[in-house]
Amino acid sequence: MVALRSVIVGCGSSLPARVVTNDDLAQRVETSDDWIVQRTGIRQRYLADASETTSVLGIRACRAALDDAGLGPEDIDLVICATSTPDHTFPSTATQIQAGLGIHQGAAFDLQAVCAGFVYGVATADKFLTTGSARRALVVGAETFSRILDWEDRTTCVLFGDGAGAIVLEAREAAGTRDDRGVLTASLRSDGRHREKLYVDGGPGSTGTTGHLRMTGKEVFRFAVGSVTDVIADAFRSSGTTADELDWFVPHQANRRIIEASADKLGIARDKVVLTVDRHGNTSAASIPLALDVARKDGRIQEGDLVMIEAIGGGFTWGAALIRW
Ligand code: UT7
Repeated sequence: MVALRSVIVGCGSSLPARVVTNDDLAQRVETSDDWIVQRTGIRQRYLADASETTSVLGIRACRAALDDAGLGPEDIDLVICATSTPDHTFPSTATQIQAGLGIHQGAAFDLQAVCAGFVYGVATADKFLTTGSARRALVVGAETFSRILDWEDRTTCVLFGDGAGAIVLEAREAAGTRDDRGVLTASLRSDGRHREKLYVDGGPGSTGTTGHLRMTGKEVFRFAVGSVTDVIADAFRSSGTTADELDWFVPHQANRRIIEASADKLGIARDKVVLTVDRHGNTSAASIPLALDVARKDGRIQEGDLVMIEAIGGGFTWGAALIRW
């Protein structure tokens, strides 16, 4: 043994009960199924009702991930919840998830990197696990973005959905080579100069209100396709792998055009790209673990597969991680 690796041993997800189609939204704002599908690839999204809070969705996703791993609450000593839509300003949603699952040991905290939150969460958990600070972590992306949307603004309200996805990471001894199972490398970036392009116009320390999401879509689009691929290139370089060796590319699900343009730019074949934006919309930090769960459960992702996850969110924050399942 020369290294500890953070190995994915289970995954799970949870979606609200209510499906809302593009035609449903066209009753509310001036838009159309055609426009939404052509510009984004989104056909429907799930929207939470009042009882389906971020922690409720997160608890369900974590429970499914624990079941998938064959583990119980006593086996987890770290809970990281990536969210920008916590139930409350404090305590953290992670502690509510911890309590809901009956986990009474270890640490739990929220991590805020907007849509890049899950990648940040995986990278953070990996540090705890590979330094021996924790043995098994739940990393959950859970969001109720419908609560912070301006339902009068057609340029944003048609894009987002609610949901949660979770993985269980376990520290395991490994050879320290790129053939190991687990997180092989992660690359994170942020640049706060881009705040105005994607932000929420409220908060406890400024307006004292929750606020609404504001976005200059075109600018975000340009950055997502033009600049974010640096972290993926980093991940390939530092792990000594190439796009050809990748089995699955599971990016943040914001827009089909962004995803396909990024894959093309990186030389990743389109049939290796996992796409769920059509059915989930953009669920921010939940989008990658939701997509992982879909591709794992339908049999695409198999043990030993090389999987690249990547996301960009408000800030801007962005990151990528290369994982052997
Ligand atoms: O998760 C965080 C990361 N976020 C993203 O990655 C989002 C990135 N951005 C995007 O995905 C795209 O920029 C959008 C999907 C948001 C917009 O697509 P676009 O091709 O950049 O369209 P646009 O903003 O340039 O708008 C084109 C037209 C405008 O009309 P005019 O000015 O050309 O007359 C908009 O007013 O489409 C209009 N429009 C709409 N029409 C029907 C904007 N929203 C809608 C709508 N329905 N919902």
